[in-house]
Formats: sequence, C-alpha cells, structure tokens
Amino acid sequence: MTVMQPTTTPPGRVLMEVFGCQMNVVDAELVLGRFRKLAYEETQDYDAADVIVFNTCSVRGHAEDRVISRLGALRDWKKAKANRVLAVMGCMAQREARDIRRRLPHVDLITGTKDFPKLAELAQRVRAGEGPFVVIDGTERPDVERLPTTRPKPFQAYVTIMRGCNRPCTYCIVPTVRGREISRPVDEVVDEVKALVDEGVVEVCLLGQTVNAYDGQLPGQVTLGTLLRRLDAIAGLKRLRFITSHPTDFNDDTFAAMAECSRLDRFLHMPIQSGSDRMLRAMRRGYTVDKYRAIVDRVRAAIPDMQVGCDWIVGFPGETEADHEASLAVCEEMRFSQSFVFKYSPRPGTVSAESMVDDVDNETKKRRNNELLDVQARVSLTSHQQLVGRELDVLFEGRSRLDDTKWAGRDPAHRIVCVEDERIREGAFARVRIDRCSALTLFGSVVAVHDASR
Ligand code: 5AD
Ligand code: SF4
Repeated sequence: MTVMQPTTTPPGRVLMEVFGCQMNVVDAELVLGRFRKLAYEETQDYDAADVIVFNTCSVRGHAEDRVISRLGALRDWKKAKANRVLAVMGCMAQREARDIRRRLPHVDLITGTKDFPKLAELAQRVRAGEGPFVVIDGTERPDVERLPTTRPKPFQAYVTIMRGCNRPCTYCIVPTVRGREISRPVDEVVDEVKALVDEGVVEVCLLGQTVNAYDGQLPGQVTLGTLLRRLDAIAGLKRLRFITSHPTDFNDDTFAAMAECSRLDRFLHMPIQSGSDRMLRAMRRGYTVDKYRAIVDRVRAAIPDMQVGCDWIVGFPGETEADHEASLAVCEEMRFSQSFVFKYSPRPGTVSAESMVDDVDNETKKRRNNELLDVQARVSLTSHQQLVGRELDVLFEGRSRLDDTKWAGRDPAHRIVCVEDERIREGAFARVRIDRCSALTLFGSVVAVHDASR
C-alpha cells in the first residue's frame, strides 16, 4: 500500500468534518493541503462534495457515538452519485477500523493516526474504482510537509511538535491510538514557524499530548524550553503558547525559558483531573494534590501573572462524595482561570474500563460536573472583576458567537474579551480597557488599535 500510482481521475471537491482536539484540527489541515496539491477544492456543501473525510476522536464514548451516527446518515449521500468517497481518519479510525467497515460498509477509505498523509491520494484511487482501502500500518511522518496551507485563520496557526503519549493514565485511550511519544527536531519546528510567520501568522500554539515532555529527539539535551527560546526570537511572532502540559513533565530549563520568553502567553493548560489523592492514584496520574500545588506555586513564582487552566474528570470509578468535595475545594483554592470538566467515560481496552466498575451513575456525574463548573464560574467572576478598569492587549479573532455586533478576541492570558468598535477586524491587535465582565467574558472599549506589523 505504499507505492502510489498516478491516476487520471479529475480533481473534485472535498468536505472535511473535524471531531475532537486541536491536534485533529491540524491533521485535517495537513490532509486538506494534500488534497489541494491534487487540485481539489474545499467545500462545505455535502451535495457538491466528491469526497467527505471525517477526522475522528476516541477520547470519550460520546465523541465516537456522534461519528457513527453521522456516518450512518451519509448512506444516501454515498448512493446518490457514483464514485463518491467516504473516508474516516483519526483516533477512532485507528481503534475501530474493522468495526467501522463491518457496521458501515459504505465507508470506503480508512486511515490510521500515522497514515493520513496518504489519504488524499488513496481517495483519488477509490474514485477511480479501486479500494476500499484500510491503511493502519503507521509508517508515515505526518508533519514533514505542511504546505500548501489551509489554515482557517490567516494570523493563527497550530503546530504539532510531538505526537503520542507514554503515560499510564488508567482511563485514557490516547496512548493506545496515538502510540509512543515522538518529538519533532527543533530545527524542523523552527523552520515551520518561520514559514508561517512569513505568511502572516502572529500567534502560534504548539501542540502535544504531553507537550512539556518535548525532547526534540535529543533527550537530555533539548527541552521544551530550548524550543520556546528559539521561537521567541523569531521577529514577527507576537504570541506563543503550548498545550497540553502534564504536571510531572516540567523541568527547570522549561520553567526558566517560560519566564524569559516575552511572547509566551500568560496561560498554562495543565489538567489536574481530580482533587482527591485517592482518585489520582487510581487514575495513575503520577502526582498528589500537594505535588500539583507545588508546581502551580513554582509557575506563579516564576511568572506572577500566569493563569492556569485545567481539565477534570468527574465520576471516575469509586469516586465518593468526599472525593468530589475535595475536587470542589481544590478548584476553589487553586483559582484556575478555566476548567474543562468531563464525565468519566469507560474506553474499551483501558485499565479502568477493564478492571474497575463504572459505579457512579450518570445523574451523579452530571451533578458533579455542574457543581465543579459552578465553583469555576465563581472563581472566574471574582478574578474578572479585578480586571475591570485595567487595560489588556487583545488579538481579535472574529465576531462574537453570541452577539455579532461585537468583536471577540483574547488577551495574553487567553481570556475572552469583547468590544464594539468599527476599527476592529479579524486579526487586529488593540489595547482594551475592561468596563464590565461575566464569568466567561470581559467586555471593554478600545483604547488604541496597534499596528499589526513591527
Ligand atoms: N473519560 C472522560 N474524560 C476523559 N478524558 C480523557 N479520557 C477520558 C475518559 N475516558 C479527559 C481528560 C483529558 C481530556 C482531554 O479529556 O480530562 O485531560
Ligand atoms: Fe491520556 Fe494521560 Fe496521556 Fe493525557 S497524559 S493523553 S490523559 S494518558
């Protein structure tokens, strides 16, 4: 399946649907880039599409259920016109290729998490009458070639700097579907970011499942800090951030670099998952609440205005009311700037799904989810109120989703800031005075619009 034959099928239109995390957004971009190289056009119109690609997620059952039902609904689309291709890539393709083919035989192309660079060419071949193809042999280096680019916003880019995860978290499917950690070399990432900046990108977000374990393929010599320093020196790059960090993967050099790099966002996403040591042990997270707290203290000592955002899982097997109360207390105490809360979802093949009982009922999970969000909303509101009257630098991303008379952007701490001002446009930088706030949003007035170039 490695040798590609050129085909004479004319190029067509491709529609991409992305589920799951930012890494999937980037992978979708890489695949669309390859379709574009084959002279395909992108479309949002199902009727006009010759190829539909689903980039899928396996992290929770709900994400998979949605994909299955959406794929099922495309049976008629597939039948309505000859030579249409329905393709599935991403984590769920990797995990369930056989099952997808059996349950949904109208899916005619499946590529695993390391094979999607071949997807565009294979889609061409399916259109020419070959296939179906299922390729999950994991032989490609997906990040080598990014161009031509298909970024959704011209001024922002995600850059995958490492793939895979070596950690043993008992609930998580990611290590199974994405494999062992592999970092990209420093120079390769630096060259990619330089090329993006030359194209007009001002904000770069580095991606990895455990991004602070980055080693540039030179463990002991290279850290995430090495890369941050190199990127911080690129003229024209205004904002730099990285997601997602694991609390135990930091090292002194990375902390030092974070304090040195002036373009680094003041926002660190570092999931805690639970505020109960008993649960953290059962999850095999590799730290206690005290250890997590010590890391946050260190970050805040080095970079006083650094905001910390986090993920939580509620209703992990065996989680009692006391464990949950501990999470509420930790959420209050740590003063996180954001919390993403997930209801535990047993993933087939993981340690928790195979050897623990999913004994917290859905109603209780829902209630615990809401209670954590309520605590977070109170914490956020209090910290937002302290910003009223202050001025923040904001990069505007587009119209507000809730009110299209307003522009929405983010400050360096990744907080959402909305203004109404006709000088603003997508990609504009401005200094904004905060007038009022809610738990989720800051509202302000533009003090000055900055020149985007420097
Ligand atoms: N059930 C619920 N949430 C999960 N996450 C990962 N695996 C599961 C699971 N099986 C959450 C974690 C992680 C985020 C990306 O998804 O909080 O940080
Ligand atoms: Fe999953 Fe844990 Fe790795 Fe995150 S660190 S991807 S939760 S195994």
